[in-house]
Amino acid sequence: MLSNQAGGEKRTSLHGHWSSRMAFILAVTGSAVGLGNIWKFPYVVGENGGGAFVLVYLVCVFAIGMPVMMSEILIGRRGRRNPIATMELLGKEEGSSAHWRWLGTLGVVAGILILSYYSVIAGWTLSYIVKSATGTFAGATAAQVVADHEAFKLNTGITSLVHTLFMGLTIFVVARGVERGLEQAVRFMVPALLIMMIVLLGYSINSGYFATGVEFMFTPDFSKLGWNSVLAAMGQAFFTLSIGMGAIMAYGAYLPEETSIAGASATVVIADTSIAILAGLVIFPLVFGNGLQVDAGPGLVFQTLPLALGQMPGGAFFSTIFFILLAFAAWTSALGLMEPAVAWLVEHHNRTRTQAAIIIGGVIWLLGFGTVLSFNVLSDVKFLAGTIYDNVDYLTSNIMLPLGGMLIAVFAGWVMCRNSTADELGGSGGIYRAWRLLARFVAPIGILFVLINAIT
Ligand code: TRP
Repeated sequence: MLSNQAGGEKRTSLHGHWSSRMAFILAVTGSAVGLGNIWKFPYVVGENGGGAFVLVYLVCVFAIGMPVMMSEILIGRRGRRNPIATMELLGKEEGSSAHWRWLGTLGVVAGILILSYYSVIAGWTLSYIVKSATGTFAGATAAQVVADHEAFKLNTGITSLVHTLFMGLTIFVVARGVERGLEQAVRFMVPALLIMMIVLLGYSINSGYFATGVEFMFTPDFSKLGWNSVLAAMGQAFFTLSIGMGAIMAYGAYLPEETSIAGASATVVIADTSIAILAGLVIFPLVFGNGLQVDAGPGLVFQTLPLALGQMPGGAFFSTIFFILLAFAAWTSALGLMEPAVAWLVEHHNRTRTQAAIIIGGVIWLLGFGTVLSFNVLSDVKFLAGTIYDNVDYLTSNIMLPLGGMLIAVFAGWVMCRNSTADELGGSGGIYRAWRLLARFVAPIGILFVLINAIT
């Protein structure tokens, strides 16, 4: 029997449970592996000067990301509700305050904001499936692929249409519910994406510029690393692991009691990091080999890969497959971004999952036009971090996720009593002590230190 839960009964979730440990790992990996690995990681590495940024990113993933992910899962499984209700419940149960619900709210809002731009970029991948399949890139030169991408971003009609299409697809799966919807979507995507990246790696190794790419990624030059880049590296670690906003908490709510949280987290972190590093190793040699700009920003992947694939035999086919897989990866991530808000609307306002998915999805769809227009009509509207898109991205990845992650670590490490966390993490052995040290001290202090230095 459990010491700390009202009534001593293990709670179950309203939304059903994962059918197995593997299903949970697949779902969390599906949420983690997405545009963050293949689209965002290479472009932020490129904008922030390479090696030193990658090093800070890796340190953040393992020293901060891992313990925060474990904290999120254990909080989620203990509460078995949407992130807002879980934080409120555990806040009271652990003798603190119901105000912890605001941490859940921060996450729900972050998820909505992230998906508003995520869906737009995912829409780009849908367009690139069609472009690839119709041979747009066959034999194209670097200048042609770049020009095509620039023209594409300016096309408000198409980019609005594909954003709308992607949100529709997301709403559809979210409406179908946890087991049928999420599990089926993630089962094949991650292994297929991994194989595709390895095929592309073969191409980049033979490109003649592999060493240049590797050097860019792994030779740290700390003179290029200001506090803003350190914050961007930390933000990227949160973003790519899907942590800091309660999504993993929401998934943890559906996790069977006996699953090892440390084991599941390690699997996800390693899979996610490998795919990001692979993406970098594929993309940077191609950038240098074709005289493209490393700091091209959000368009980077949409320029390098079509170019490389367009020059390969069977390129149209591989390029089509690649963008299909990328769209799938984005899709499984989008589900996770919506889950906290949808679970909250279902539990709190008695909506059906379908109604909740349509309402939340509709709001996100509307907000997404801020990003659609950031690349054309409103590209000159700049404030604080840049365009509307730049600001939504900066606010979420660099502020809301780290802040959320810090508070999650503080809650699990300081507010929850030892018995509760040891119970969820399966005893108080070495792994438990390492987690507790990281969650109590390293993660919160590290996050705060970086935030303060970058913002002041
Ligand atoms: N990790 C996702 C990616 O790399 C993006 C993401 C951030 C996310 N937070 C999330 C996905 C929460 C699902 C849930 O593309």
